[in-house]
Amino acid sequence: MTTTRVLTGITTSGTPHLGNYVGAIRPTVRASRLPQVQSFYFLADYHALIKVGDPARVQRSTLEIAATWLACGLDPEQVTFYRQSDVPEIPELTWFLTCVTGKGVLNRAHAYKASVDKNTAAGEEPDAGVTAGLFMYPVLMGADILLFNAHQVPVGRDQIQHIEMARDMAASFNHLYGEHFTAPQAVVEEHVATLPGLDGRKMSKSYDNTIPLFAPQAQLRKLIMGIVTDSKAPGEPKNTEGSALFQLYQAFASAEETAALAQAYAQGVAWGDAKQRVFERLDQEIAPMREVYERLMQDPARIEDTLKRGAEKARAIATPFMGQLRQAVGLRSLSNGATVAAKHTKTALPSFKQFRGADGKFYFKLVDAQGVLLLESTGFEQPKDAALAIGSLQQLGTAGLVALKAQLLPKADAPTIGAALAALAKR
Ligand code: TRP
Repeated sequence: MTTTRVLTGITTSGTPHLGNYVGAIRPTVRASRLPQVQSFYFLADYHALIKVGDPARVQRSTLEIAATWLACGLDPEQVTFYRQSDVPEIPELTWFLTCVTGKGVLNRAHAYKASVDKNTAAGEEPDAGVTAGLFMYPVLMGADILLFNAHQVPVGRDQIQHIEMARDMAASFNHLYGEHFTAPQAVVEEHVATLPGLDGRKMSKSYDNTIPLFAPQAQLRKLIMGIVTDSKAPGEPKNTEGSALFQLYQAFASAEETAALAQAYAQGVAWGDAKQRVFERLDQEIAPMREVYERLMQDPARIEDTLKRGAEKARAIATPFMGQLRQAVGLRSLSNGATVAAKHTKTALPSFKQFRGADGKFYFKLVDAQGVLLLESTGFEQPKDAALAIGSLQQLGTAGLVALKAQLLPKADAPTIGAALAALAKR
């Protein structure tokens, strides 16, 4: 069995909430412990700059997200855990990929299109308020993925298109420069629950309805007490279906515990009591991690250290690979470039070919490096005469064309033939 490389990035633009934990962090940390998997997890802080213009928030979020993943059990010894901006090969590869990505492809990216649609609906210029950073977002993401030749990229449904674009970038680059990149595959966890937020809609920062994963215990309780329910009185049976509280519980509890809460619902448990039960169950899982999180947050230097070591591991792969890619696209040292060029011209030179015609006479032709016919001769009685004519052309170049005019049948224009002869003369 071969190793599967799994890679995913987390944009450092906010504070992790319960939805992130259940939907991404918890399954990912579990997956990182599987054998035969080489995992890369990184803090996408370059991506954060696209939507966050507040430096303190970018820094704070980077610290919080790093501490969260470590507190949730990510083992930096076992995986490669790094910060995007510590790997300068990523922006360099972004440029290479920019040059093989169609602008029209980026025009179709969902995030960009959504902005354009919003502007159009509001009667604004289509690109109003749209930065080139937002437009280029998929290319930066492609570089994140292709730099490590990831096979699998666990993402949310909204990111699938970006992985498809990364596949296209890999294909275009490979087509032009040879096989360098692996085509990545999006992995969308179908069975992972989408958590409802405080208001019952999907828990999301953009709805402002989140419960921070590591809110202090008292705040966690208060927030859970504030989750919307219907107005059924204590003693009245409650519906589990459509109950945000119930779904939240389900994401943390065992099947038996969930069945027990369903029964309590049917028996008319008071909402306050149900909420207390949910709080206690969540806190049971979260409290030990919260303790680690708080300790880590007190020691940012230690996290910095962990990330720096992660970047070293990442660059041990990225630096030589980028060297290979620079070579492939022609960003090469000139001192050994001369030998490369000489070798290249040797195989790519025009050439003379001699042959005997059906009439028994001796002919030659000149073809370019691709085999395209440039020039034919008339028939010579003796092979020696054909060879002499070839020699004159090689020696004299364009001047030879004039001198031998009567024996030649040009099949291309004079400058093209002249250039081919000049290339031969140089040798
Ligand atoms: N764009 C991703 C998100 O918002 C974050 C991200 C950046 C990412 N680079 C990545 C995810 C590379 C997977 C692979 O969720």
